Amino acid sequence: MRQSTTKGAILIATGPWDPAPWAAAVRAVEPDRPVFVWPDLPDPAAIRYALVWGPPEGLLASLPNLAAIFSLGAGVDHLVFQEGLPEVPIVRVVSSDLTRRMTEWVTLQVLTHHRQALAYARQQAARTWKELAQPQAADVRVGIMGMGVLGRDTAQVLVRLGFRVAGWSRRPTTVAGVEAFGGTDGLDPFLARTDILVCLLPLTAETRGILAMPLFAKLARDGALGGPVIINAGRGGLQVEADIVMALADGVLAGASLDVFEEEPLPAASPLWAAPNVVITPHAAAVSAPKELVPLMREQMAAYEAGRPFTNVVDRAAMY
Ligand code: NDP
Ligand code: OXD
Repeated sequence: MRQSTTKGAILIATGPWDPAPWAAAVRAVEPDRPVFVWPDLPDPAAIRYALVWGPPEGLLASLPNLAAIFSLGAGVDHLVFQEGLPEVPIVRVVSSDLTRRMTEWVTLQVLTHHRQALAYARQQAARTWKELAQPQAADVRVGIMGMGVLGRDTAQVLVRLGFRVAGWSRRPTTVAGVEAFGGTDGLDPFLARTDILVCLLPLTAETRGILAMPLFAKLARDGALGGPVIINAGRGGLQVEADIVMALADGVLAGASLDVFEEEPLPAASPLWAAPNVVITPHAAAVSAPKELVPLMREQMAAYEAGRPFTNVVDRAAMY
């Protein structure tokens, strides 16, 4: 049985990320609480909270008095695909800072394709002065897959800019000015009205590999941009990169903006680097800022120790 203690210790395990800013941010708000940075773990039984990103398999199961796992990002695929995770709440990031960062990135990408920024950059390199046709935002249909915390905020900003926005989620999501589609039955009609497809889905057993040729072929082909564009900041496991390369070469897709990849860092040999009309960013759409996120985690610990439940808890069966 898991024992209850009050001021238990915190373990930080950040995988490929530098743990130092996380440890500093935790020590700044919790000066009295013992903090350990993996692999320094002298007493596994002392740990009450694990703050993790891509922890080693088995680490969390080795902590007998763990009260909660805090994911250092909004996505939790780094946890939910692990075998033998302890049966404690997994709390994920929901923060206005992270949400705004994502909304900025997606808006930048939508406008990059809508305002033909890549074509103008090529023209500039060639010293070419030539105005390109410019449709109104109202003539461009954006479709957002994943209408969660990030998708909804992004949708609101794109509506404000005048785009025709729709959202697709498991259950239809109501956002003012946004056409709602839900579930498997809603996918095809959603794709058929979409010129710019934005993916903000979590990676789950259901969503893996969804961004592939059969889906690209269902996107609208009669849009103002001359062909459909995809924007993915969800997870690399959602996309089939060989299909994206082929779709771009064959004109099934007119462009793409990708922040996440099947393998990260994206290998230098990937054909995506040189694919036409593609923006690549290094999984940097919405970074987790320790100074912004740690105080939220501390509030959750304090609430729990005062007898209240954790919030933003992952539904393990749904995997997000
Ligand atoms: P949420 O959990 O708030 O939202 C997830 C959305 O996806 C919900 O609308 C949900 O539907 C929908 N969804 C899940 N499974 C399905 C499915 N099978 N079919 C249709 N819709 C589905 O997540 P967030 O918005 O906070 O984050 C989304 C993802 O963004 C994260 O999981 C992460 O992978 C990624 N991310 C990437 C970052 C980056 O820098 N690149 C930074 C932060 C996050 P419903 O509403 O019906 O539950
Ligand atoms: C996240 C991420 O999930 O940065 O927050 O990818």
